[in-house]
Amino acid sequence: MSTETLDKAKSNLPVRGFLKIDDLIIPQGEDLVKAILDLKKEKNAVILAHYYQPPAIQDVADFLGDSLQLARQAKDTEADMIAFCGVHFMAEAAKILNPTKKVVLPDTQAGCSLADGCSGEGLRSMRAQYPNAIIATYINCNAETKAESDVIVTSSNAETIIKSLPTDRPIIFAPDKNLGRYLAKKTGRDMILWDGSCIVHEAFSMERIAKQLAENPDAKLIAHPESETPVLDLASFVGSTSALLNYVEKDDCQKFIVATEEGILHEMRKRAPHKELVPALVFDESCNCSECFYMKRNTMEKLYLCMKYELPEILINEELRLRALKPIEAMLDLSKTVK
Ligand code: 13P
Ligand code: SF4
Repeated sequence: MSTETLDKAKSNLPVRGFLKIDDLIIPQGEDLVKAILDLKKEKNAVILAHYYQPPAIQDVADFLGDSLQLARQAKDTEADMIAFCGVHFMAEAAKILNPTKKVVLPDTQAGCSLADGCSGEGLRSMRAQYPNAIIATYINCNAETKAESDVIVTSSNAETIIKSLPTDRPIIFAPDKNLGRYLAKKTGRDMILWDGSCIVHEAFSMERIAKQLAENPDAKLIAHPESETPVLDLASFVGSTSALLNYVEKDDCQKFIVATEEGILHEMRKRAPHKELVPALVFDESCNCSECFYMKRNTMEKLYLCMKYELPEILINEELRLRALKPIEAMLDLSKTVK
């Protein structure tokens, strides 16, 4: 690549926004995998990936995990650069927890419907309405929203944390009303719920899944708690992505209908190669897919570019970072026993 092309390319790489990749030369196939691994060594980088990432990214990652496991890895890493293959709020949490590291995200447009629907200002007005309430917020939110919260939770530690909160104060739970409803039922706590949802999990159809179960009497339905109540009521097991993986691996059943983002099937098939895994059906009959459009914005090509040019980088104002860190640290403290 000529210096002129390279300079032009670099000048098109904003801190937050799209990578302009049309005029860059990007290795392909095995060369791309090798180039990413070479960059990892050269930059002392670690690649952290969520289970919903494209399979090729999962395969090249140093660590694959759920939101809690990824946050812990990001906090403890000694690498100089964290290439975070997940969505924006996850990479932002990594930066909040480990501010001296450079955190890059292959595509900053990898957002989340839950995070997009809940602002810090919104939580501030809820606090004004219920001044005595504790605000427990799902990690799927941006830094401003975290900064207005008392404690952050993930799907794997939410039940433990909610059970540990003082019983003489009401709980505001944001932004996922489906997870909130599930937790209220599990813990018996009254919760004031923010009206948000995950566009992927709310697309599962209870009627179509009930039919799938009837046609597959030897199968068990397993579901992520971001799914709607009627789907969760049909499920034999409800849990975070890592809990779903462990369940499939350890349970005696040989066939599972899986109600979560279908990227997880890649790791499930590796861990339980002889079991039959069927994606749960969604409302839209023309599409059997349950892909998160945001998670799938990340590609191997963009991973290569973000590591090579160290852009787009996650940056955060220090005053905001410190305010957002407090409820994340509260979460880590309250969930030491959760794996
Ligand atoms: P977990 O991996 O923590 O279960 O969360 C799933 C999710 O919402 C990712 O977007
Ligand atoms: Fe957000 Fe749902 Fe996508 Fe997870 S699967 S990133 S909760 S939109």
